[in-house]
Amino acid sequence: MHQPAITGHGVFTPQQSITNDELVVAFNAYADRWNAGHAAAIEAGEVEPMAHSSAEFIASASGIEQRYVLDKAGVLDPARMYPRLKPRADDEPSIMAEIGLDAARQALARAGRTGADIDLVICAASNHERAYPAIAIEIQKLLGAGGFAFDMNVACSSATFGIQAAADMIRTGSVRRALVVNPEICSGHLEWRDRDCHFIFGDVATAVVIERADEAQGAHFVIHGTRCATEFSNNIRNNDGFLRRAHDQMDDRRDMQFMQNGRKVFKEVLPMVSAHILSNMADEGWQPDDLKRLWLHQANKTMNDFIGRKVLGRVPDAAEQPNILQDYANTSSAGSIIAFSQNCEDLAPGDKGVICSFGAGYSVGSVLVERA
Ligand code: COA
Repeated sequence: MHQPAITGHGVFTPQQSITNDELVVAFNAYADRWNAGHAAAIEAGEVEPMAHSSAEFIASASGIEQRYVLDKAGVLDPARMYPRLKPRADDEPSIMAEIGLDAARQALARAGRTGADIDLVICAASNHERAYPAIAIEIQKLLGAGGFAFDMNVACSSATFGIQAAADMIRTGSVRRALVVNPEICSGHLEWRDRDCHFIFGDVATAVVIERADEAQGAHFVIHGTRCATEFSNNIRNNDGFLRRAHDQMDDRRDMQFMQNGRKVFKEVLPMVSAHILSNMADEGWQPDDLKRLWLHQANKTMNDFIGRKVLGRVPDAAEQPNILQDYANTSSAGSIIAFSQNCEDLAPGDKGVICSFGAGYSVGSVLVERA
């Protein structure tokens, strides 16, 4: 068995961002238009008027202050309320491959590697731009990587599930050097016209290089225990899929975008996550005091505060459990990797931490790492 390690990491951040204030102005303009268009039905008591959103609510309920997006104009257009992304021809790189490649190149540069050194590419994300061929195989080609590549989707947990899959293959020797890429175009599947969730997501891409620790070219993070768990729930769901036409459901339906029962997710996922992290640590003989850092999934600040307290047995300070959701919002599978990438280089050899992601499925994955 070989010892796997994370030897490189990278984040692609879109150039455009939307503050809560900007988002709320657009949403409220959309709500006013909708109410005007349904004035008679509202007057007759047949439908409820659409309520305004509030930037104060968003910041206090989630901790999110802004989000990055690939197309701001489309999202903020009250007559549209979703991004406008130019379709790519079959001979052009797909959008997910393009942004994933940017993050991948940063990760490879940090690892001191090139695409040719890679023999496994996993594109792990909560939605894929097309059914096939796999985005991962496109990235493999664009990078000049060898071996094989495949897509996987475990929603917000995709990154840690992808890391476990790659780490297991490094352990057994079936691959030598892997790239796990998480391009998340969440703006494409967020319902920007629903005030309960319109503030939740942003766009980003992340990547990590995983290889044998004894082949690392520089400072790296040895991967100790990896663990994944799932338990079926309908509380986070997206019903879009390839049977839409067969179901005669090509209309603009709410359930073709992200839907969640946020309160239930909160209550049900939190205990699952803290117990999961603690059991992964216990099996490795790690105590809470051994942890220098928690890089958690970035969905909600209160949620992360709760998990941090449960895992450490005390209130973590901001440096121990860094949040990036105030800047990026929830970026699905990429969130914990952004937190890791932006807050890991200061750790000293021997320092230990946990990368953990969780979400739809339900699903939760954790990766115990040690700086070397
Ligand atoms: N502006 C103003 N008010 C809003 C609002 C908005 N944008 N959105 C909702 N509200 C209102 C609701 O209508 C509700 O009003 P009511 O009390 O009169 O019914 C009130 O604010 C509270 O709404 P609720 O949805 O219960 O808020 P919350 O405290 O649960 O926070 C989330 C909402 C989404 C931030 C929170 O539930 C959450 O983060 N859940 C987990 C998310 C998660 O991890 N998801 C995984 C996705 S991968």
